[in-house]
Amino acid sequence: MAKVIVDSEYLKEIDKARRELRALISNKNCAPIMLRLAWHDAGTYDVNTKTGGPNGSIRNEEEYTHGANSGLKIALDFCGNLPNALKVSLAGCCIMQGKYKTFTWPSILHGAACQSVVAVEVTGGPAINFTPGRKDSKISPREGRLPDAKKGVPHLREVFYRMGLSDKDIVALSGGHTLGRAHPERSGFDGPWTAEPLKFDNSYFQELLKGESEGLLKLPTDVALLDDPEFRRYVELYAKDQSTTCVKAWLVFIADLENSFKTDQTEAVTLDEDAFYKDYAESHKKLSELGFTPT
Ligand code: HEM
Repeated sequence: MAKVIVDSEYLKEIDKARRELRALISNKNCAPIMLRLAWHDAGTYDVNTKTGGPNGSIRNEEEYTHGANSGLKIALDFCGNLPNALKVSLAGCCIMQGKYKTFTWPSILHGAACQSVVAVEVTGGPAINFTPGRKDSKISPREGRLPDAKKGVPHLREVFYRMGLSDKDIVALSGGHTLGRAHPERSGFDGPWTAEPLKFDNSYFQELLKGESEGLLKLPTDVALLDDPEFRRYVELYAKDQSTTCVKAWLVFIADLENSFKTDQTEAVTLDEDAFYKDYAESHKKLSELGFTPT
């Protein structure tokens, strides 16, 4: 993919836009759907053909009407209704010799990637390093690249490996379900995953390990994370809640010990909610940059 030059004036604008977005997203309580929009735009990436990915193509009617994207028109309209000044500063592809071109509709979807980062931040999640400068695409991938919630472990691996992502990315990103809820008229599923669906924390993993809880949802793909030992290892890690410094110090010691026995092939063990936040931030950044080479 072609490299895009991002100048410092533009970065300042993005920073300002982030601050304004924070206020807007909190006021409208739309963090979950903004996160889902950016993920569904990015999650079509195919590492072999270098097609799909976080390129704003979800704005094409052909793509937002895919069954898996049901309900996301609401989020697209939110992007379309942002104040003009904000649209311009979010338009990653509009950098021309350090000047911004006048706003055009196709450019604003790049804001979705930025908005998902802000959505995670305003709900209490980790800060995610966002690199602006994506290029828009008018070409939409064929329907069927996003995961099917009714399927299991092999399907999850097939879909996420196609994007070039790992087992750790699958589990960390599934933690995005700490936010929001399912709507019967959109997906056929109903309810939130956690008791506080506007708060980003590790409760998704805690609920998953607890099993059935009245009023809370578990998709077959969520439950699948418990079925596979490699996935489960991360679920258990991310669910850990550290209450005291003393316990934490002890666990750091154990993790260090465990890491000292690991070979180069296995990933290092880290701890608790810190581990989830750290891994989530890394995986989200990876997802938002699939097929994109920042300069
Ligand atoms: C909602 C499936 C991964 C973020 C949903 C819904 C389904 C679903 C069926 C309900 C949609 C509705 O009825 O409104 C899946 C499957 C995944 C997956 C099968 C495979 C692992 C992810 C990832 C993220 C994410 C990676 C973000 C990093 C969300 C959010 C919502 C949601 C925030 C709530 C949206 C709202 O409240 O409007 N997902 N998802 N999902 N998903 Fe996922």
